[in-house]
Amino acid sequence: MTFVVTENCIKCKFTDCVDVCPVDCFREGPNFLVIDPDECIDCTLCEPECPANAIFAEDELPAEQEMFIQLNAELSKQWPVITEVKSPLPDAEEWNGKTGKIDLLEK
Ligand code: SF4
Ligand code: F3S
Repeated sequence: MTFVVTENCIKCKFTDCVDVCPVDCFREGPNFLVIDPDECIDCTLCEPECPANAIFAEDELPAEQEMFIQLNAELSKQWPVITEVKSPLPDAEEWNGKTGKIDLLEK
């Protein structure tokens, strides 16, 4: 199994998740992070760290977020590894909790 980053990370990118991952499986895009499913060891540590509650176990994903399984798998093969926390995106607090952000995902 793997953990999956979902829609509410888009335009927030708080990066607290990166700090706790023991196997460096987060990958960074312009306004979103993903988890490499081939690297994730299912340790559960990242899920409670995300201020946007954007991380779910694959088998606990809300139905409307299921497309993110494929997106994490695909984008994790294209984006570079991120291993250190950085500042969130400038308007992260305003975007936290907004819906419909999938259309704003930058690849
Ligand atoms: Fe990393 Fe563990 Fe989160 Fe998987 S569950 S992404 S191994 S912190
Ligand atoms: Fe995104 Fe949450 Fe990590 S907003 S960058 S999944 S801490």
